[in-house]
Amino acid sequence: MKMKIKINKKKNIIFVIIVILILCISLIIVNFSRIGKINDQLLSYINEENKTTISFNSGKNIKISDDVYKKLKEQEIDVIIYNDVYIATVKSSDLQQYMDIDVNLKKNNIFNDSYNINVDSNVKCDIKVNVKSTLGDVKYISQYNTLNDALNIVSNDIQVTEDGFSNLIQEDNINNYVIAYVEPSEFNIEDIEVNNTTKTQIDIGIDKSKYTKGSFYLECNDKEAIDIEDYSTIVAKKAGDYKLKLSTNSGSITKEINLKIQEVAESIQLDKTDVELQIGQTLKVEATILPQEAVNKELNWTSTDNNIATVDKDGNITAVSEGNCQINVSTNDPIVSAKINVVIKAVSSNNYYNYNSEDITYINGILLVNKNHPVPRDYAPGLQDDAYNAFLQLSADAASAGFDIQLLSGYRSYDTQDRLYNNYVAVYGQAEADTFSARPGTSEHQTGLAMDVGWIDDSYGDTPSGIWLAQNCYKYGFIIRYPKGKENITGYKYEPWHIRYLGKDVAQAVYNSGLCLEEYLGVN
Ligand code: DAL
Ligand code: ZN
Repeated sequence: MKMKIKINKKKNIIFVIIVILILCISLIIVNFSRIGKINDQLLSYINEENKTTISFNSGKNIKISDDVYKKLKEQEIDVIIYNDVYIATVKSSDLQQYMDIDVNLKKNNIFNDSYNINVDSNVKCDIKVNVKSTLGDVKYISQYNTLNDALNIVSNDIQVTEDGFSNLIQEDNINNYVIAYVEPSEFNIEDIEVNNTTKTQIDIGIDKSKYTKGSFYLECNDKEAIDIEDYSTIVAKKAGDYKLKLSTNSGSITKEINLKIQEVAESIQLDKTDVELQIGQTLKVEATILPQEAVNKELNWTSTDNNIATVDKDGNITAVSEGNCQINVSTNDPIVSAKINVVIKAVSSNNYYNYNSEDITYINGILLVNKNHPVPRDYAPGLQDDAYNAFLQLSADAASAGFDIQLLSGYRSYDTQDRLYNNYVAVYGQAEADTFSARPGTSEHQTGLAMDVGWIDDSYGDTPSGIWLAQNCYKYGFIIRYPKGKENITGYKYEPWHIRYLGKDVAQAVYNSGLCLEEYLGVN
């Protein structure tokens, strides 16, 4: 800009005029330094990487795209600098006007300042704003509507603060929207109790569509305890009692609440997952909820087909009819489940042994029942008086000697043994069941002459009570029927609790011989 100065002869007048002129020029320069059109104010521009830096005589630089620069030159956009506030106004009514302002801020702690980017709120435009700080941060916003639409606020100012744009607006990476928000004025939230490993939406009592990311924060005193997903959803990770702090971005409101994370079921462990039963049989499945500290301990048992197998609330499965089904067991809140495959078979007609005789085996007048010598199905004599009376005497004398020897199992019918044996088969498999349980028709218990007494445990024989029983039962007419070391002959594991009544004479003879009954009788 050229200025013409007229010189007066009077020095003082000249001086005054000069002073006035200097003041005017200064004023003009100052004004130009703050407000102006691109054509007037541009001191230089450098095209680097398709970005144009426009420098103003205020010392500030603004980087713009060539596209924008073109618009600026066409005077569709004014760039106005006012103090340290940059204001860009899009004047064009072009609906897809594009503006890219790259504001280089050179001060330290620039984010303590406030920068306004003022866009005509009714112009539809694509706005991109990059703010580079001395810390190297780059924040970015864009939106494709009018600011009024997007921000839904009366003001069309965007305020940039320490957290970039988060104080008033939010970058939504998915929709590329700019969303305005105002900080919550209260946190309407009380102590929380949540389950571990569940995604928990926390209702903090505010309209989340208004108060968006960055307007407030959640913080837990133990960072391992939870994950905070977006700004208001927590995922519990570790059981325990914690403090959860909510605060607005500006710190205007804070609230601390107690957060209790409870351990809940993660899995159900079953003692068996495949069950094979015969119609009429019942078998219990043990279910354990893990982890053990889980608070939701209730189990629901259901059958996929109650016509095939039913299940009760304790996990007892009862076979109803032939076929396959599934038993499901699950917890509530949260639901974890496990399943058991069930196969129900018809009652086997030949059962497990071959006997086709109604004969009962006596050797030298002694009734012999073992794997090779069954008794008929309908052989049902009940508990024998002689045997029972002898036991009562034994038990009384044992008590005098200081031992509590009770009758645990005496007479067992064919059907009872059938159920018992098959339950063992379902749990342990037939081969193992055969080592300790007699197949129906081959159990001495069906004779009414055998009893399980004392304590049914392998270690019973080593207890004072078991030792007393082994050393004294012959005096009452009993023998330990399945002794240790004779397993291959009797066909059963050592059973220190199972006694067989033979009468006193035979029992004493067997005892003295050190043989098992089969050896003593000379049969298999
Ligand atoms: N425990 C014996 C062998 C039985 O079942 O009779
Ligand atoms: Zn027994």
